[in-house]
Amino acid sequence: MEDKVILVTGADGALGKYVTQAFLDAGATVVGTSRKIRQSDFSSSSFTALPAEVSTREGAKVLMDQVVARFGTLDVLAHTVGGFAGGPSIVDTDDVTFQQMFDLNLNFLFHVLRATIPVLRQNGNGCIIAIGSRAALEPGAGVGAYSASKAAMVSLIRTVALENKDAGLRANVILPGTMDTPANRESIPKADFSKWVKPTAVASLITWLASDAGKDVTGAVIPVYGSDV
Ligand SMILES: NC(=O)c1ccc[n+]([C@@H]2O[C@H](COP(=O)([O-])OP(=O)(O)OC[C@H]3O[C@@H](n4cnc5c(N)ncnc54)[C@H](OP(=O)(O)O)[C@@H]3O)[C@@H](O)[C@H]2O)c1
Repeated sequence: MEDKVILVTGADGALGKYVTQAFLDAGATVVGTSRKIRQSDFSSSSFTALPAEVSTREGAKVLMDQVVARFGTLDVLAHTVGGFAGGPSIVDTDDVTFQQMFDLNLNFLFHVLRATIPVLRQNGNGCIIAIGSRAALEPGAGVGAYSASKAAMVSLIRTVALENKDAGLRANVILPGTMDTPANRESIPKADFSKWVKPTAVASLITWLASDAGKDVTGAVIPVYGSDV
């Protein structure tokens, strides 16, 4: 991937840090973004930290303008920004939580897609990978807002795949089950962590999809459920 420029959103997140490192290990030039990302988060000289707020169309555009100004192009978008809220039934879910789930998991992606697609279309071999969730296909009681927002994300990415075939731009969405992250270990301490999906496994799949080996895969919705199937 020596000749590729990658944008990882949520690059300092539990998954995003592994995704960023995997692309760096593959020899790519990696731009990592989040609100709090720092240059010191990764030691590689191929890493550039661009702090940004992608909660608005303008914020995503400013980010993408910076990427183009520095690197002149973009080959791959790996979008890992997202968040979880659960507990109440639909009847008891408040407006703020419902809106927050759709902002984090759908609207932020929408802003990033509108900013990046025109650039990704230019090189004839672009690639978008978004992180959904198992809950997109298998909603559970008490996680309605999260599940619905991830299901909508799947629809958005599949539409992007259809709309950009003409430019060789691929778009796929990965649906992890519960991942083995520090936050999950803290909130479910008695779980069998060995059944959870390793973030490194998701990161490897992302780099494979972005590589030439994955060039025939687009519009795919890919479950990664670990041994808890
Ligand atoms: N963890 C799991 O078990 C699991 C399972 C299935 C699916 N997923 C999905 O996988 C993805 C990654 O999960 P994770 O556990 O790695 O989440 P995480 O640790 O909470 O990371 C979220 C990332 O998003 C960034 N972010 C949040 N709001 C932002 C904003 N307004 N502008 C820019 N960046 C923002 C955060 O960085 P800053 O705070 O620095 O901005 C952070 O880097 C999410 O989409 C999640 O829904 C997770």
